[in-house]
Amino acid sequence: TDYGTPQSTSEKNVTINVDGFDVTVPEGTSVMRASMEAGIQVPKLCATDMVDAFGSCRLCLVEIEGRRGTPASCTTLVEEGMKVRTQTDRLKGLRRGVMELYISDHPLDCLTCAANGDCELQDMAGAVGLRDVRYEADCQNHFKMRDGGGEVNACWKPKDESNPYFTYDPAKCIVCSRCVRACEEVQGTFALTITGRGFDSRVTAGMSESFLDSECVSCGACVQACPTGTLQEKSVIDIGQPERSVVTTCAYCGVGCSFKAE
Ligand code: FES
Repeated sequence: TDYGTPQSTSEKNVTINVDGFDVTVPEGTSVMRASMEAGIQVPKLCATDMVDAFGSCRLCLVEIEGRRGTPASCTTLVEEGMKVRTQTDRLKGLRRGVMELYISDHPLDCLTCAANGDCELQDMAGAVGLRDVRYEADCQNHFKMRDGGGEVNACWKPKDESNPYFTYDPAKCIVCSRCVRACEEVQGTFALTITGRGFDSRVTAGMSESFLDSECVSCGACVQACPTGTLQEKSVIDIGQPERSVVTTCAYCGVGCSFKAE
């Protein structure tokens, strides 16, 4: 189970109530993790327990008694006596709206995507009950190229296949920054960054032309963190998803970190 945020190491406990269920967790725990520990699934995309919460996708919104607005549960810490609601009609509507925007700018090629069946975007679309998408980007996954002063709209976001172990397909990126944070927090390398804004925002290998030319040490932490088919192991693309996986030491590099492999 991915609890969404890392475990707190505090020895002091706090009890909160989530959707009518009491749950006791260490101080410093996120509302998302407390909810998950109570067995209540909160939709999420940018949160994962391998890196600190960032609060960018806005899918994990909750209502907290006595507070205005709908804070992100991944970046909100528990407080004694807190009463949280995760499944109100208002929250469900907000989450569907967020997912609709994500899907409006994502290729609808799930059936031929190597991540099919192992894609959190796909899972979350189902979890929030998304049926239709009312919005249409200029061109799905457009990438605006400026050409001689004129703006050319092209369905063009080139794949980066320079790394021998994985590919990077920016057309499938939801810019959740999990890969950027994994690179920094898990590996201690600062090879990735996010550039641009809005539709033009994208993950890049720093100032480098490609992953191969960058500071990337091919540890695979970014691939493991990616919730979609954006960063994919080449072996998965070639032979499909493994039927089972175990945690082992991968052959990517000499660092010796743990990585899921077939
Ligand atoms: Fe909390 Fe993305 S999971 S904002």
